[in-house]
Amino acid sequence: MACLCFPSTTPLPRFPSLSPRVSITKIFPSSISLFGPSRFRSHGVDLRSQATAATLTVDYRTPGEETLDTGPPRILLEVRDLSAIVAESRQEILRGVNLIINEGEVHAIMGKNGSGKSTFAKVLVGHPDYEVTGGTVSFKGEDLLNMEPEMRSHAGVFMSFQSPVEIPGVSNMDFLLMACNARREKRGEPALSPIEFFGFLSPKLVAVNMNPKFLDRNVNEGFSGGEKKRNEILQLAVLEAELAILDEIDSGLDVDALQDVAKAVNGLLTPHKSLLMITHYQRLLDYIKPSYVHIMEAGAIVRTGSFSLAKQLEKEGYRSVSVA
Ligand SMILES: Nc1ncnc2c1ncn2[C@@H]1O[C@H](COP(=O)(O)OP(=O)(O)OP(=O)(O)O)[C@@H](O)[C@H]1O
Ligand SMILES: [Mg+2]
Repeated sequence: MACLCFPSTTPLPRFPSLSPRVSITKIFPSSISLFGPSRFRSHGVDLRSQATAATLTVDYRTPGEETLDTGPPRILLEVRDLSAIVAESRQEILRGVNLIINEGEVHAIMGKNGSGKSTFAKVLVGHPDYEVTGGTVSFKGEDLLNMEPEMRSHAGVFMSFQSPVEIPGVSNMDFLLMACNARREKRGEPALSPIEFFGFLSPKLVAVNMNPKFLDRNVNEGFSGGEKKRNEILQLAVLEAELAILDEIDSGLDVDALQDVAKAVNGLLTPHKSLLMITHYQRLLDYIKPSYVHIMEAGAIVRTGSFSLAKQLEKEGYRSVSVA
């Protein structure tokens, strides 16, 4: 039984209602139902047989090289030559992204504004604004692109958006309980009762250093930028995703909040869980140490290196790491 460590003056949140006001498919963070019907299609172009379009300069080590102590690293996510366009305007954004993430690895993607980082993340979770025009993505050996966004979430992919959405009318507590139980159901685990869930949630609230009063509020509604980011990490902790994609989790955080969030994220990492962080700043990587740093340019990963690449970027700017 988890210990509840809140000050006695802190009112406990109300327990979730047993009859949720909205269905889980409407509120899941990465759910297609948040955005409407899927227009997300792979055009069936098999680029695996074609030459790799992207220029990839690896100046560090082969991914997974340092995790060989217990046998070969297991690939969690494998992206091959991924191309995507904006569905409405047909504008090409991703131009052959290649990336392999093994279990237990932390990857950071950096790159100039507009280089395609968020688009890449959103395409991975199946955002309907984009259409995949080529390439493949496998997650735990399964074709991710063939899964509806909700299924991707159930499979263990979590994304924290650069601008987290507000969900009026849905309390944070209800949302978290429903999201947690939806994932448990897919894993064949019994649903948690509200009381059991609160026991499960309490240490996570402490880890994120979040006041329980936020559980009673509607999801992200009226939250400050930093509160939204903390809430995203709480969702990640509850969902226990194998791959967390955090898009600028550091933006809008004060120094203390950055440390809290980084500590909570580090606490979630296990040898089987991986992290893909998008950031502009080395300071996040000072707290959450990346196994690899990638540079995205014009819709492709053009360079991969170690933490020192982020340091070089901070010191010398993008010109020093660009291939253009
Ligand atoms: N839904 C959309 N409709 C129109 N254009 C889009 C859409 N999504 C992305 N773009 C365009 O694609 C390009 C890449 O955008 P993206 O958000 O992926 O960049 P980014 O690398 O995340 O930038 P930043 O560092 O500023 O967050 C931009 O020029 C953007 O305007
Ligand atoms: Mg972005």
